Amino acid sequence: MTPSTPYAGARTPSSSAASGTRADRADATSTGAQDRSPAGRGAAPYLQVTDLQVHFPTEDGLVRSVDGLTFSVDKGQTLGIVGESGSGKSVTSQAILGLHRGTRARLSGSVRLDGQELLDLPESELRELRGSTMAMIFQDPLSAMHPYYTVGAQIVEAIRVHHSDVSKKAAKERTKELLARVGIPNPAKRVDQYPHEFSGGMRQRAMIAMALANDPSLLIADEPTTALDVTVQAQILDLMRDLQQEFGSAIIVITHDLGVVAEMADEVLVMYAGKAVERGPVDDVFYAPQMPYTWGLLSSMPRLDRVRQTRLDPVPGNPPSLIRVPPGCAFNPRCTYREHVPQDRCVTEVPDLLPTRQPDHLVRCHIMEERRRELFETNVKPRL
Ligand SMILES: Nc1ncnc2c1ncn2[C@@H]1O[C@H](COP(=O)(O)OP(=O)(O)OP(=O)(O)O)[C@@H](O)[C@H]1O
Ligand code: SF4
Ligand SMILES: [Mg+2]
Repeated sequence: MTPSTPYAGARTPSSSAASGTRADRADATSTGAQDRSPAGRGAAPYLQVTDLQVHFPTEDGLVRSVDGLTFSVDKGQTLGIVGESGSGKSVTSQAILGLHRGTRARLSGSVRLDGQELLDLPESELRELRGSTMAMIFQDPLSAMHPYYTVGAQIVEAIRVHHSDVSKKAAKERTKELLARVGIPNPAKRVDQYPHEFSGGMRQRAMIAMALANDPSLLIADEPTTALDVTVQAQILDLMRDLQQEFGSAIIVITHDLGVVAEMADEVLVMYAGKAVERGPVDDVFYAPQMPYTWGLLSSMPRLDRVRQTRLDPVPGNPPSLIRVPPGCAFNPRCTYREHVPQDRCVTEVPDLLPTRQPDHLVRCHIMEERRRELFETNVKPRL
């Protein structure tokens, strides 16, 4: 029997080891690791992001917000992306949806959805996909809702723009149903109100209703539950799971809340300074994490099963500037394990993201794997 996940908000781990989402295999394959992904076996994953870079030229220099990110998500699977503020999570999701177009952002790499390259897709075709095949729950609900139109009108529009055969009346009925499903009381009245008449939490729910309106095959949820109380949080997570079960959707959940990841995700991608630093099935990353930054994140997470002996430790120090990323391992100025790496490699050499003994679990750290495992067992685990 698998142990129940001890972190707040977590579910009992399921068959995530058999997950169809995969680790950063471009890094893995470039360093000789075997590609065990469906793509590597001949089947293309539903979403495949390869060597994605998103850089912003600014007066102070080039901001490397996303710097060589590779991952994939299959239908019916959920990938959790975690990392501190500014690590590039939202910029990544905006790149997938093509939301950097027309801005000064410089993009390279590849984003393929169901085999189709999105980065060079004409805007008109991308617009067709956005809101129907792929949808996003934004971190900031106001950015997704127009202040001058009623909430209902906006959801009706979101439905009809992709389904012109649906009448206004039918779309409005569906909107009321959606509002009820996301826990908005009295949807018959609320449907005709404006976003400013909704509280922050209600707006968040209305935006989730809009994102789910067309049963998207790819749903990206960027901090979907931050503004919500725990009961509504649970409802929203249930809704996303229902969507996945009903339509086999691929889901990316971006969050600071590792409990949400434990509850929802099959696989976890830990981002630091625009790069993946650890990735793998949720059970591996939660029970046998191997990157010191992940250790720090887990140490700052509340536990349900017992009172911690030590206080919650946020990762000491601050994330680096993405204009002047430290040389070597970007985490090195904050890392207390550098002494385990000889010859100062931590400050001179960028570690590759490499597979561990579990080929689907990839880690970016110069410490030898056996040593990392020992350090986790002796230094980190007792403090969690
Ligand atoms: N248009 C832009 N121009 C310049 N820098 C940008 C731009 N958009 C984002 N950035 C920078 O890119 C980095 C990554 O931002 P992003 O919004 O992806 O972080 P995040 O991981 O989503 O953080 P949070 O958890 O706070 O939402 C940040 O340093 C941010 O300042
Ligand atoms: S490579 Fe060095 S600095 Fe980076 S996480 Fe590993 S030990 Fe720490
Ligand atoms: Mg963000």
